[in-house]
Amino acid sequence: MPSPTPTPIATPGPLPKAELHLHIEGTLEPELAFALAGRNGVELPYASEDELRAAYSFSDLQSFLNLYYALMAVLRTQDDFAELADAYLARARQQGVRHAEIFFDPQAHTARGVPIGTVIGGLSRALDAAEETYGITTRLIMCFLRDESAESAVETFEAARPYLDRITAVGLDSAEVGHPPSKFREVYALAREAGLKCVAHAGEEGPPSYVWEALDILGVDRIDHGVRCLEDEALVARLVAEQMPLTLCPLSNVRLRVYDRLQDHPLPSMLDAGLLVTVNSDDPAYFGGYVDDNFTAVRDALGLDDAALRTLARNSFRAAFLDEATREVYLKEVDAH
Ligand code: ADE
Ligand code: ZN
Repeated sequence: MPSPTPTPIATPGPLPKAELHLHIEGTLEPELAFALAGRNGVELPYASEDELRAAYSFSDLQSFLNLYYALMAVLRTQDDFAELADAYLARARQQGVRHAEIFFDPQAHTARGVPIGTVIGGLSRALDAAEETYGITTRLIMCFLRDESAESAVETFEAARPYLDRITAVGLDSAEVGHPPSKFREVYALAREAGLKCVAHAGEEGPPSYVWEALDILGVDRIDHGVRCLEDEALVARLVAEQMPLTLCPLSNVRLRVYDRLQDHPLPSMLDAGLLVTVNSDDPAYFGGYVDDNFTAVRDALGLDDAALRTLARNSFRAAFLDEATREVYLKEVDAH
């Protein structure tokens, strides 16, 4: 359970921020992948960490997902999941993260014979220690793989019922095109009934209609990515009017070829339009940087000034699933930085 209001801390380093779009499996660095492979007797089809890193060249989302799912073979025990999450949180601390809302993909593990309790137990162990160890508050978001069936999503939700006190929200990820949000209407209704928040990846590679469906059919509280909303004026007006948060991931968008160059990223015009945008890292081990690296990269490539970066940091706390007292503490930290 989240603990009472944290004490404000003075941070001379990076801007204090919340990370709201982070796949824990996407923080698996080659060094840890090889260490876990050795420990668990899993053979990786790469001779070295450098050879694995050399495979990080993607043409689209699916080409990344193929490697992302393959490497998960090394994650087998509670200790493995705890170590993965702890390694992320240690890095996040260095990046100015004060609050992290972390996605995980249970179906990618249960399909390999790893029980959901092992996954949630290991991740929770690291997250529960994070406030004391790193000064980071955390939430866990359970994602459904949209290229699996709607029935599998419901089965996964039912398998997670004993652990719902550890889970703040449900999400929707994996291969987007051809798997619209409406496919998952039933499981999102179950999640809402159980008192969970709802988010969904929409408008990363998929069309604006997927963003409309996430809003109108799934009733989401945030949209993950959402950049393709810009193709639909009425949709932008709706997102602005509702101040619906969009969790953008600029370095990810370039690595997965949504945009050719970071200079082409629409983040500045989205800020200008009044959209509630945040900057996040998605799968930082694969995309060349953690969240503050994303902040630095957009500052340099897009010429964002200090005021814009501060707005992004403030937005991250505005969009977080936090109680109001804690939100105020974090917003004050941004203002004092
Ligand atoms: N799973 C991990 N990263 C993802 C992304 N960027 N889009 C969809 N699913 C994902
Ligand atoms: Zn993502």
